Amino acid sequence: AASETKLQDIDPSKLVLTRTSKPKPLKKAEDLVFGATFTDHMLTIEWDKTTGWHNPHIVPHQNLSLDPASCVFHYAFECFEGMKAYKDKAGQIRLFRPDRNMERFNKSAARIALPNFDSKALIDLVAKFAKLESRFIPEERGYSLYLRPTMIGTQKTLGVNPPGSALLYIIASPVGPYYPTGFKAVSLEATDYAVRAWPGGVGDKKLGANYAPCIVPQREAMSRGFQQNLWLFGEEEYVTEVGTMNFFVAIQNKQTGQKELITAPLDGTILEGVTRDSVLSLARERLAPEGWNIVERKLTMAELDEAATEGRLVEAFGAGTAAIVSPVRAISWKGKMVSCGLKDHEESGEITTKMKNWMEARQYGDEEHEWSYVC
Ligand code: COI
Repeated sequence: AASETKLQDIDPSKLVLTRTSKPKPLKKAEDLVFGATFTDHMLTIEWDKTTGWHNPHIVPHQNLSLDPASCVFHYAFECFEGMKAYKDKAGQIRLFRPDRNMERFNKSAARIALPNFDSKALIDLVAKFAKLESRFIPEERGYSLYLRPTMIGTQKTLGVNPPGSALLYIIASPVGPYYPTGFKAVSLEATDYAVRAWPGGVGDKKLGANYAPCIVPQREAMSRGFQQNLWLFGEEEYVTEVGTMNFFVAIQNKQTGQKELITAPLDGTILEGVTRDSVLSLARERLAPEGWNIVERKLTMAELDEAATEGRLVEAFGAGTAAIVSPVRAISWKGKMVSCGLKDHEESGEITTKMKNWMEARQYGDEEHEWSYVC
């Protein structure tokens, strides 16, 4: 413990900035493809087990140089975050609930023996970085700067041990609305032959290793005409997540007729989505007074199907940082199509649209709220 107290934490006052000599031309906002272009700079902070965190640097966005033996390449010592910076009407840059991302980043890192850090210090650096890249953030609604904090184990060893060195870096990508034509409802394939997460596993952590194995099932679903997987779990076929997002469904209760907004509970198999938490919070604040019941509970695919058949399925949507909310049109399950409450000409349900607007009001600072962090 004595040696641990000597380790240095992240110190924003030690930031060293090296500006690019080749500022990139800006892409037209409407040409932005999610995660395809990057800003001028990146933030890097090295760590090693004897020093702790080194001084933070902002340098031109550039290649990393790593030994091929670096443990990240062999045993997947990698975790990441997804968060966004928004430009408000006054031109100020705002982060959305960055404390949540930092808390989760630390939890993910700890689970794979990577180092922890002071959340406040990193938020401070993220804010400085986002401000520096401010010219890349379009002001229009639906546009933002997607920030990708990443941590990797860099020790060069094939030994299976806690990494003795690590690198934390943040890159940034200007992004537009997930669906440039506005909301587009997606169709899902209920997936039972592959499992995204399981009890005692790491599905609640944002590890890169959770994402790669989901791509083949996603391509399978696509080959059959469905955009995303609806990940089922267990013999009961619990509905867990959709693609890389948390899943919400609005149902009328069979017994009481009361409207319920339901999402899976955080039982260790569900990612602790910042958008998930925000949707729940907004629902408790604004839908509950209108008579809605807001519930975190397990829901089976059979229950969802029954609700659809009986006309009690109001709407369904995915929730995540990238798309905010993503309306669901239908779910293919056991050879049948379960329709999720939208009329043919509709691309989004009422609650889904309301959630999008409520979220955006706080993200862009139209509504002053503690979730919004002015840089
Ligand atoms: C999300 O924001 O929904 C994600 O999980 C983002 C993805 C690009 C990993």
